[in-house]
Amino acid sequence: KVASEQHRPQIHFTPPSGWMNDPNGMVYSNGTYHLFYQHYPDSTVWGPMHWGHATSTNLVEWQHKPIALYPDSLGYIFSGSAVVDTRNTSGLGKNGKAPLVAIFTYHDTTGERKGRNDFQSQAIAFSNDDGKTWTKYAGNPVLANAGIRDFRDPKVGWNEATKKWIMTLAVQDRVAFYSSPDLKNWTKESEFGKEVGAHGGVWECPDLFMLEHGGQQHWVLIVNLNPGGPNGGSATQYFVGKFDGQHFTPYSNETQWLDYGPDEYAGITWSNTGKRKIFLGWMSNWQYANLVPTKTWRSATTVPRELRLEQVGGKYRIASLPVAELQVLAIQTMQGQQQGVLNGPVRMNLTTQSLDAFSITLKNKVGQKVVLGYDAATNSFYMDRRASGKISFEPGFAAIHRAPRFSATPNIKLTLIVDKASVELFADDGLTVMTQIFFPDNDYESYSIDVKDSSAIQSFQVTPYRSMYLQ
Ligand code: FRU
Repeated sequence: KVASEQHRPQIHFTPPSGWMNDPNGMVYSNGTYHLFYQHYPDSTVWGPMHWGHATSTNLVEWQHKPIALYPDSLGYIFSGSAVVDTRNTSGLGKNGKAPLVAIFTYHDTTGERKGRNDFQSQAIAFSNDDGKTWTKYAGNPVLANAGIRDFRDPKVGWNEATKKWIMTLAVQDRVAFYSSPDLKNWTKESEFGKEVGAHGGVWECPDLFMLEHGGQQHWVLIVNLNPGGPNGGSATQYFVGKFDGQHFTPYSNETQWLDYGPDEYAGITWSNTGKRKIFLGWMSNWQYANLVPTKTWRSATTVPRELRLEQVGGKYRIASLPVAELQVLAIQTMQGQQQGVLNGPVRMNLTTQSLDAFSITLKNKVGQKVVLGYDAATNSFYMDRRASGKISFEPGFAAIHRAPRFSATPNIKLTLIVDKASVELFADDGLTVMTQIFFPDNDYESYSIDVKDSSAIQSFQVTPYRSMYLQ
């Protein structure tokens, strides 16, 4: 079925209808990628949270599945993660088969209304049929609240060195690490972040994982922040450092952002994908997520992105690029001209010869446009949606967003992923990333590249994508 409503993304995951926010419980198991998500099926605004569910074998074409977790007497089902309990440490497996275990936050609105501080707790659910059906554990919650209002979004991973599960939990203005032998009994190990990182808002949706670089293992701690992002509202910060099974120690106290645009939030990685780390974010911003002008559903995810570690100027940074699997949607790759037609989703790969300023404009016939590019004077990238179309639903939406350049190469390599209502910019092989959504009255139908001297363009390829709803 082709989802053809106005603004409906064609190469990004969206809920069939209703509200969506954070991606949840991302786990790879038996050749299938599971994606759960914060979902309110009965409305297009945030409400009683469920875990929606979809699966894919290639991270690109998704099949909608029945809702996996419904709210119950213990509360709404807030964000969390899922693991394959390979060793059946939880004892929740059946017939020698490893269970899938989801670890999520219960948000008890009754407690919240009564003014209590302990209304968020951690709970588990398990599946013995590859994620088709889920049973909530009878002993929930597995981690009770100690009187802290913001106590949520457990991300769990197996720590091979200590042979324990590690839960990274967002606790107001810091993360807390807990360990467990069985996913049921949790012991607090340490806290991190009260004095480090960006604190313009509450810490949410953390993630902790290992990435190799130069034959060495490093730990990455992702912490989503709302508000306080580099371009306003919600955004994803990260730290690179060491984790000894109990404590996380960053190499540097500098705040780093995984995506500088306004519209990537609550991003975390899939579990059980080995050394490969695949990141997915919610493609919106709490500043206006409930107001964006779509009718039957709200919000999409970003494209899945593969993360790697790079060392630039002596500092470790995460670089991210769209997963290679996106290629299954490619129709062809053509030499691009400086001006051209847009007819559906597209990838653009542009390499320059120099560090001269340039811009790319996506536009429609009624004069609405998004402009993005490189500003040589400030050595930064930008995205401008001030004239992008529908902008009046929230006063801060019509803005220009900026991101620093980190790479020291004497030219620029840019990848753009353009869909009906979004553009994602990956500069310098993903060292600087920006995501921005937009809502033109008519789809953008042409593009142009503006550069002082056209010889500054070394190469330019355009790859039109088919819709994920078409075979
Ligand atoms: C992040 C978040 C999480 C919470 C969920 C509720 O966007 O606020 O902290 O679990 O959304 O829907």
